[in-house]
Amino acid sequence: MPGVVLVGAQWGDEGKGKATDLLGSRVDYVVKFNGGNNAGHTVVIDDEKYALHLLPSGILSPGVVPVIANGVVVDIEVLFEELDALIERGVDVSRLLVSGSAHVIAPYHRTIDKVTERFLGKRRIGTTGRGIGPAYADKINRVGIRMWDLFDEKILRAKIEGSLDQKNHLLVKVYNRRAITVDETLEDLLRYAERLRPMVTDTAVELNKALDAGKNVLFEAGQATMLDVDHGTYPFVTSSSATAGGAVTGSGVGPTRIDSVIGVIKAYTTRVGEGPFPTELFDDKGELLRKTGGEYGVTTGRARRTGWYDSVIARYATRINGLTDIVLTKLDVLTGLEKVPVCVAYDVDGVRHDEMPTDQTAFHHAKPVYEELDGWWEDISRARSFEDLPKNAQAYVKALEEMSGTRISAIGVGPKRDEIIPVHDLIHSR
Ligand code: IMP
Repeated sequence: MPGVVLVGAQWGDEGKGKATDLLGSRVDYVVKFNGGNNAGHTVVIDDEKYALHLLPSGILSPGVVPVIANGVVVDIEVLFEELDALIERGVDVSRLLVSGSAHVIAPYHRTIDKVTERFLGKRRIGTTGRGIGPAYADKINRVGIRMWDLFDEKILRAKIEGSLDQKNHLLVKVYNRRAITVDETLEDLLRYAERLRPMVTDTAVELNKALDAGKNVLFEAGQATMLDVDHGTYPFVTSSSATAGGAVTGSGVGPTRIDSVIGVIKAYTTRVGEGPFPTELFDDKGELLRKTGGEYGVTTGRARRTGWYDSVIARYATRINGLTDIVLTKLDVLTGLEKVPVCVAYDVDGVRHDEMPTDQTAFHHAKPVYEELDGWWEDISRARSFEDLPKNAQAYVKALEEMSGTRISAIGVGPKRDEIIPVHDLIHSR
């Protein structure tokens, strides 16, 4: 032991890389257990910026074994694009392990993602267009293709045939697109099979052995709590389990092996894509957060929607994930505001809700009830202990801690790797 789970507590882009960095050299394995290349994290090391979509951030730390576990959907072309880009910059990527049970994103998944969104029109989800949803749909429909299948051409051909059969009817008759051939798909998927082969293994065995040997294993969620297919703002969610439970099903380790669950929360809120967002700002304050926080998607380049901190969501994320620690990120972005509003509850058609409303319609109608906290002007990027923060910033952090019900164990004060205040050790037993 210990097994540590790291999840986003809002709608994604909370800066999970920051928390991973803080755990740094003490982590032996970093496991991606859900999602695919719809994610995007930026890691800054020695002024060098790395944007990763599919690979776990642990790939950048020498000595860490990065693992793509069974719960992930893998676009093989993207995998090798990212690996090759890192190799070019001198990063050793040879330790990467990929689960044989992880599903493959085939080119037709990307096509279907895009045409479905177009077809949905006003009801679109605002997906990243990377084929994530269609690949998971095939997994659940039991017509998916797994990594193991790439090493048996006969099986692979039969599975592609089975999967394309229905899809081509849909593509041609409903979406008015050309049919996709088995041969072109086969060629696409086989292109990297030989390079993949040495990386592909039973990662569940590897991870359980690592935990037996007392290694520190970090399970890093893609996306975030409010985008989780079960617990998020359905249907405006991603198609995988982005909450702590997903770490278990998505990697093949049992729940008793998890010691702590860290939730990463931004000091304000952002969201990309469609769907409800109670604290969203449409004014110059929203634009200020976007500009100062650099809130543009790593994966799609889309401008993120921005808003104030929402403690109803923080409490919800605490509950759903069983959070033991919070890493609060981007506190520096709030510097220079006279007052900082924090959402403490919702007003739903005249009724106060201190907790997340259970039904979708109520959440769509939720209006934030704000409490205004005093702002601060001082540059906080050089603060390295809680006491270094201006009094009002301290009070802001303390207020968020109280409202969320989980201790804040680290505070991000700037984009660089070391611009963080450690408060409590993130690796601990239950
Ligand atoms: P999909 O994951 O591409 O199917 O997109 C579903 C929803 O999740 C859309 O609203 C996306 O914008 C959102 N989404 C997916 N991945 C991320 C992420 O890493 N950060 C933030 N939003 C994401």
